[in-house]
Amino acid sequence: MSDTTFSWNGDAVPFRPGETLAAALLRANHGLPRYFCGIGACQSCVVRCDGRLVEACITLARAGARVVDADE
Ligand code: FES
Repeated sequence: MSDTTFSWNGDAVPFRPGETLAAALLRANHGLPRYFCGIGACQSCVVRCDGRLVEACITLARAGARVVDADE
């Protein structure tokens, strides 16, 4: 995996410096199961990142991170 991608349900997703998981997923047309407020308030975008539940809209993308659906 390159320095500028993370994995989403097994697919490599590129991201730009300072980009959140949600922004990168939406830009790459991977989408999210749910996305509403975009400010970390509604919890609708929660995913599992390296085993931890996080809000995708406020969590910065990190090279090599393994991100999956929250129920994985
Ligand atoms: S979209 Fe509401 S917490 Fe992320």
